Amino acid sequence: MDFNLSEEQLMIQQAARDFAQNELLPGVIERDRDQKFPTEQVKKMGEMGLLGMMVNPKYGGAGMDSVSYVLAIEEIAKIDASAAVVMSVNNSLVCAGLEKFASEEQKVKYLTPLAKGEVIGAFALSEPEAGSDATSQKTTAEDKGDYYLLNGIKNWITNGGNASYYIVIAQTDPEKRHKGISAFIVEKGWEGFEIGPKEDKLGIRGSDTHSLIFNNVKVPKENRIGDDGFGFSFAMAVLNGGRIGIASQALGIASGAYELALKYAKTRKAFKTEIINHQAIAFKLADMATQITAARMLCYKAATEKDEGKDISESGAMAKLYASQVAMDTTIEAVQIHGGYGYVKEYHVERLMRDAKITQIYEGTSEIQKIVISRSIAK
Ligand code: CAA
Repeated sequence: MDFNLSEEQLMIQQAARDFAQNELLPGVIERDRDQKFPTEQVKKMGEMGLLGMMVNPKYGGAGMDSVSYVLAIEEIAKIDASAAVVMSVNNSLVCAGLEKFASEEQKVKYLTPLAKGEVIGAFALSEPEAGSDATSQKTTAEDKGDYYLLNGIKNWITNGGNASYYIVIAQTDPEKRHKGISAFIVEKGWEGFEIGPKEDKLGIRGSDTHSLIFNNVKVPKENRIGDDGFGFSFAMAVLNGGRIGIASQALGIASGAYELALKYAKTRKAFKTEIINHQAIAFKLADMATQITAARMLCYKAATEKDEGKDISESGAMAKLYASQVAMDTTIEAVQIHGGYGYVKEYHVERLMRDAKITQIYEGTSEIQKIVISRSIAK
């Protein structure tokens, strides 16, 4: 693995950093408070190529490598973790899955506007009673000849209200367990497709999370992704890549909190000196810096392996498991270093602490990552 970033990667990192400072920082506290989706900012991210970063330019993408993607998400998440998850879902769960597995017609019709950021997408796997146990989902897609009839409820869907296109995973043959699951592209506005109310969340409050209700929705056959029965493999493959995106989001949350804590510790005085001169604070910062560097290396490793075409189920899970723990630990300590100031919104670290928690839950909980890793090392 090359530890030196290329000129191009450094440029992308700087562009994302500037964008986050200039466009995301203003209003981030208010968007969190009011649960306001960053509509204008996401539009600009699309124009910058950040919503289809790794997609071939032939389909409207930016044609970049996965390490550049990690760099960009980290910079965005440092300032606004909500914008980062919009970006991660669109890139990893929607665009990457379509580019790898969709038909040429589907790529032209759906991937191209998604990769250009003209519209955004969502990925619907989880259900009210099937989150970690994804094979136990109940949504059905009944084969009716030239269309499928989709019925069921999906839960916790990021971009649920703002997406135009949804990748929906459903049972086509419940008898066959995970081999009887298929994946479909569903458009907003189709008859029988209803979007549930927005969830009122602890963190990432600028992103929108909804349930989706499908009541006899007619999905044309040509909107199935891959073969009948391919949906679970599709979802697993997509999530392996998605976990790199969430790991990078967690990394950004951690490094954002660390940078704020370091700055504060260098200026805030107590007992006649800047608090960084007290070992109790300095050691916390030393731990943070070490853990963040280790998390970053895991993200780069998984991203590099993805570009090399390797199986990233283990490396993606390791990156997410570790980076999300680092995000949690670092943000808690960043609040502690700030003392009372850390507990108020103006100083940003309380928001980052709330945002950190979800990275241990979505796209596979930490416990699921351990299942994936332990099965892989036991092979
Ligand atoms: N990569 C590729 N294939 C995988 C895989 C992986 N990481 N994990 C499992 N598979 C394959 C297995 O090889 C097996 O295939 P074969 O039968 O062909 O060999 C098949 O999937 C079924 O696997 P298991 O028998 O191991 O199934 P299981 O039910 O015991 O466990 C699981 C599977 C790994 C726990 C899986 O259900 C899982 O990953 N659950 C978590 C789901 C998840 O991440 N949900 C997040 C929702 S999306 C989200 O959060 C989106 C958002 O909006 C942010």
